[in-house]
Amino acid sequence: MVAVATSEQRQSYSIRLGTHASCVQEIEQQQCCRKLNLSIMETGTLEACVPRLSQFCKMGFYAKHIFPRLLDWALGNPQMGKYRRRALEAAYGNTLEIGFGTGLNLPYYPQAVTQLTALDPENMLAKRVAKRIKESPVPVTFVQLDASGRLPFADATFDSVVTTFTLCSIDRVSAALSEMHRVVKPEGVYLFFEHGRSRDPRTARRQDRFNPIQNVIGCGCHVNRPIDALITTADFHIETLEEFMMPKTPQIMAAMYKGIARKLSIKN
Ligand SMILES: C[S@@+](CC[C@H](N)C(=O)[O-])C[C@H]1O[C@@H](n2cnc3c(N)ncnc32)[C@H](O)[C@@H]1O
Repeated sequence: MVAVATSEQRQSYSIRLGTHASCVQEIEQQQCCRKLNLSIMETGTLEACVPRLSQFCKMGFYAKHIFPRLLDWALGNPQMGKYRRRALEAAYGNTLEIGFGTGLNLPYYPQAVTQLTALDPENMLAKRVAKRIKESPVPVTFVQLDASGRLPFADATFDSVVTTFTLCSIDRVSAALSEMHRVVKPEGVYLFFEHGRSRDPRTARRQDRFNPIQNVIGCGCHVNRPIDALITTADFHIETLEEFMMPKTPQIMAAMYKGIARKLSIKN
């Protein structure tokens, strides 16, 4: 088995690890891996790949410089913008966005939104995001925080809470949903647009198998989370739910959940 890639190889985003046909096949199936050029996989087992990938992906350079750019590119195309606009059209008033990322939702908030609090534990692509915030018609306050801890907002502060492509990434997602539930007003809305677990059992099994790898290369992203179940378990009632497969997307990432949820009760 060949040792972990040299720093030169890592810098060119190629990893040489060992040989195992099923591992190569499993990984090469995934577009996102190909984009990272993780195609030269030669190791014992899929499981053996994961810690090695983890070493590579958790390196500061990848997480700080490569991943945010990939994210911005993959989620920032005009087609995605159309989905974002539709997902956000019911937002109004004082709004909280959890998992702000690179601010890709900013152009799509409706005029009814009067103030946006944008929360994320990372401060990705700071210059690019600052420009987006400056150009946003909605006043934005950025808060660098983990949403699964106690949020610094009183109960029932926000008219709208928003997540897009975020429930997949929050480590303690139920704790974050519980906080979102606490800070949204009783009459407020929670708008979500998320990828998650496929209804097709075969695809779901593939998602389960690929999840450990995605978790590493996607900096904490899970492909197999049952989004609707997570939301309802957090005491939200799902008022509308649209499920569809995102076009031109690998099957394991394509199951989309878009909808509006409201509080069932006020949790303390
Ligand atoms: C795939 S990105 C999506 C970014 C953005 N919402 C979008 O639609 O483009 C997931 C985001 O969730 C954020 N995130 C991860 N863990 C989080 C947490 N514990 N609390 C809040 N945000 C978190 C990440 O930093 C990242 O910005």
